[in-house]
Amino acid sequence: MRPEPRKILIDCDPGVDDGVALLWALAEPEALEVVAITALGGNVPLAKTTRNAALMRMLAGRSGVPVHRGAARPLVRAAVQAEEFHGPEGLGDLDTGGDPGPIAPEPAAQAICRLVRASAGTLTLVAMGPLTNLAEAVRLDPGIVPLVREVIVMGGARSEGGNITASAEYNIYADPEAAAEVLAATWPVSLIGLDATHTVRSDEARTAAIAALPTARAQAMASLLAFTNRIEREHGAVDGGPLHDPCTIACALDERLFQWAPADIQVETQGELARGHTAVEMRPSRIGHSRHRWAVTADAPAIFARLTAAAGRP
Ligand code: RIB
Ligand code: CA
Repeated sequence: MRPEPRKILIDCDPGVDDGVALLWALAEPEALEVVAITALGGNVPLAKTTRNAALMRMLAGRSGVPVHRGAARPLVRAAVQAEEFHGPEGLGDLDTGGDPGPIAPEPAAQAICRLVRASAGTLTLVAMGPLTNLAEAVRLDPGIVPLVREVIVMGGARSEGGNITASAEYNIYADPEAAAEVLAATWPVSLIGLDATHTVRSDEARTAAIAALPTARAQAMASLLAFTNRIEREHGAVDGGPLHDPCTIACALDERLFQWAPADIQVETQGELARGHTAVEMRPSRIGHSRHRWAVTADAPAIFARLTAAAGRP
């Protein structure tokens, strides 16, 4: 008897890697039921991330998946964008002029609360942008926290160091207050940071394998990966771009694709130098009752094998 597909809600800021993640998640309906997509301002402004999420939904042939508009800016700070890594429209070289389809009128935080309560205990929140929408949802209805199966987050840095400052990863840096509130809640959080994602790179061979597939999904993925590879080359990387956000989908599909360490993870919210730094405490005597886990390593070949198989599905 085939198991029921896992229910997930994807919160994102597309973003080229968010785009690959969305196309992947929407390509395996027998494994993942994407109940909704919520967007927020991040890599590019909210209007573009919302449009981009909707475009990916349409390209995936999944017009029935609702897309909700969320936070335009962080809880208390000014927005920090990343056009240099995602292009001015947020999807690299992809044409963003197509019909994105309708945007649901319900704000993201309200949709998250409603869907968590409707799926009591079975819904996983998959967050691949700043954590503002999730923090606003908990503020709106703190009672959702014990009803969420798991929160899978792309974010954080430990041994690898940061990608926007010496010690902070972008999603956490962009809204450290939101990240602190999400991590302070008592739900289980699986944090996939740069220590793992920097080992999952779309090198030329992996990108070419996807580009060789005849589906529209694969062609879009290959375009997004090629854009990231080019930007990363300009920044000195030689083995392709890190597959940050798709790692959250890999985790939702099969957590065994990662090695995990129980942890207590806290976020620095004071000052500018250490803003968004994730302190990942792994010493058993200091973890206490924390329900966090940190992705220590990732199985890059297996992740790409599954991504490529999904890319080629009719
Ligand atoms: O640091 C990588 C993260 O920041 C990814 O989610 C990418 O899309 C950007 O939002
Ligand atoms: Ca993202």
